Amino acid sequence: MSMGRFIALEGGEGVGKSTQVRLLADALRARGHGVVTTREPGGTPGAEAIRAMLLDPAGEGWGPRAEALLFAAARADHVDRLIRPALARGEWVLTDRYLDSSRAYQGGGSGLDDTDLLTLHRIGSGGLLPDRTILLELHPDEVAQRLAVRDRGVSDRIGGRDVAYHARVAMAFRRIAAADPARFAVVEAGGSPDAVHARVLAAVGA
Ligand code: TYD
Repeated sequence: MSMGRFIALEGGEGVGKSTQVRLLADALRARGHGVVTTREPGGTPGAEAIRAMLLDPAGEGWGPRAEALLFAAARADHVDRLIRPALARGEWVLTDRYLDSSRAYQGGGSGLDDTDLLTLHRIGSGGLLPDRTILLELHPDEVAQRLAVRDRGVSDRIGGRDVAYHARVAMAFRRIAAADPARFAVVEAGGSPDAVHARVLAAVGA
C-alpha cells in the first residue's frame, strides 16, 4: 500500500482554498489514492463545536490569547481523531487551513508570538506538520471581488476584521512560507480554477 501524505492549503479569505481542495481530492482519487478532505477550524464533532464558538461567538467574543487556545484545542482533536488515523491507514489528508493559519491570523494579525503558537501546537498536536503546505496567493483587488460575490456583505467574526488586519495576515503568510521553502509551495491563485489546480498538482508533485 502506498503511503498517504498530509497536505494543507493555506491563504487569506476568498483565495479559493476549498475549491482547490476538492479538485485536488478528485485528481488524487482518480489516481487510485485514498483521500480524506477536511477543514479547520473543524473536521471532527468536537472541533466543529469549537468552530461555532470561534466564528459566531456569544457576547463580546474572545481575546487573542483565548482565541489562539481554542484554535489549538480544535486542532488537537482534529489531529488526534481524524488526521493521524487517516495517515496511519495510508490515506492522503487534504486540509483547508491548518497551523499556519494560526501563525498568520493570531500571530501576524493579532500580534501573538510565533514561538508561543508553535509551543501550543507542540502541546496540542505533538507538533505535527504537513508534508507540504500550499499557500494560495491572490491580489487583494481580486480577493475583494470574489468575496463580494461569495459573502454578499456577510462574513464571520474573523473574516470581517478590517483591511489592515488582513494585510498583516497576508504578510505573515508570505514570511512564514519564505522561512520554510522545503515545506511550502507558494501558488498564484489568479485565473480559472482549472489553471490554479494544475499549479497545485505540480506543487504537490502528484
Ligand atoms: P472559514 O469560513 O473556513 O474561512 P475561509 O473560507 O476564508 O477559509 O473560516 C475560518 C476563519 O478562521 C478564517 O477567517 C480564518 C480563521 N482562522 C484563524 O484565525 N486561525 C486558525 O488557526 C484557523 C484554522 C482559522
